[in-house]
Amino acid sequence: MKDLKRIASLVGSLSEIEFKVLETIERIADQGRVATPDAIARSLKLGTDYVAKMLDELNRRRLVWSPRGRGREYMLNFASLDMLALHSASRRGILTHIGVKIGVGKEADIYVGRTGEGNVVGVKFYRIGRTSIKKHRRFREVGLEAANYLASSKMSAQREIQALRILYPKGVPVPAPVYRNRHMVVTSLIEGELLARVDKLSEPEALLWEIIKSVKMALEAGVIHCDLSHYNILITPEERHVIIDWPQWVRPSHPNAELYLRRDIENIATFFRRKFRLAGSVEGVIGWVSKD
Ligand SMILES: Nc1ncnc2c1ncn2[C@@H]1O[C@H](COP(=O)(O)OP(=O)(O)O)[C@@H](O)[C@H]1O
Ligand SMILES: [Mg+2]
Repeated sequence: MKDLKRIASLVGSLSEIEFKVLETIERIADQGRVATPDAIARSLKLGTDYVAKMLDELNRRRLVWSPRGRGREYMLNFASLDMLALHSASRRGILTHIGVKIGVGKEADIYVGRTGEGNVVGVKFYRIGRTSIKKHRRFREVGLEAANYLASSKMSAQREIQALRILYPKGVPVPAPVYRNRHMVVTSLIEGELLARVDKLSEPEALLWEIIKSVKMALEAGVIHCDLSHYNILITPEERHVIIDWPQWVRPSHPNAELYLRRDIENIATFFRRKFRLAGSVEGVIGWVSKD
């Protein structure tokens, strides 16, 4: 999103009451109600005209939008969700700066950030449905759809930090969890390259087994990744691996757990076999995990 910088700078320029209006729209939507100017005004004990004017201004700055026509009902978008998340993080001293974008995935943007203590961190903003929200903006039903996308983005962030909080203390190589707010996840920043882009490894076979060992440790901690591939593993300059991108994880008790686990391992084994010409069979690797 090219205008996260704009959004970060707006955090300082928005008044407390404007933030309250945004938070109120969010709360009303979370309760499954319709955020009309009247409902927002009532909730804040302010006059409807005053609130309507503020909404108009927020709309002009593209921080709220009206799926059913201006003035009738308001919703947040990813820009205002970003602002609310950044506002919460900066109020707590967790984030003081947002820097360059370092990753764009299908469902998220990743930025470099800095904490109040001066640590450099990775800041992931989920953007589920981003492209389709834009595409279908005109349709009436889009309101419902967009609300679901914002909710799904929050849910993904929640799920991801939950996995990291289970795995990191157990020593599974994942980014260290720092903070989560709404659809935003803050973690340690990993210096490394996607496994998919690594062409040379000094000991590919050793690395494959290290990754399998991590999958097994995660399993023992009660977490199956479910989207493991060479696109979700970072390789550090020391050729150590870090497994990222955990929102879709499941518990080993999940009815499809075994299928997902097998697929995760097959993806990795197949990648190593093809790219690094390892003879070790995929079955061997899977057998090793399910044995003990
Ligand atoms: N903690 C991190 N440190 C460094 N780079 C990261 C970190 N998290 C993500 N990235 C980069 O951002 C990209 C997308 O992140 P990812 O978590 O896989 O999201 P997506 O769901 O969009 O695939 C990754 O491929 C990686 O290059
Ligand atoms: Mg990914």
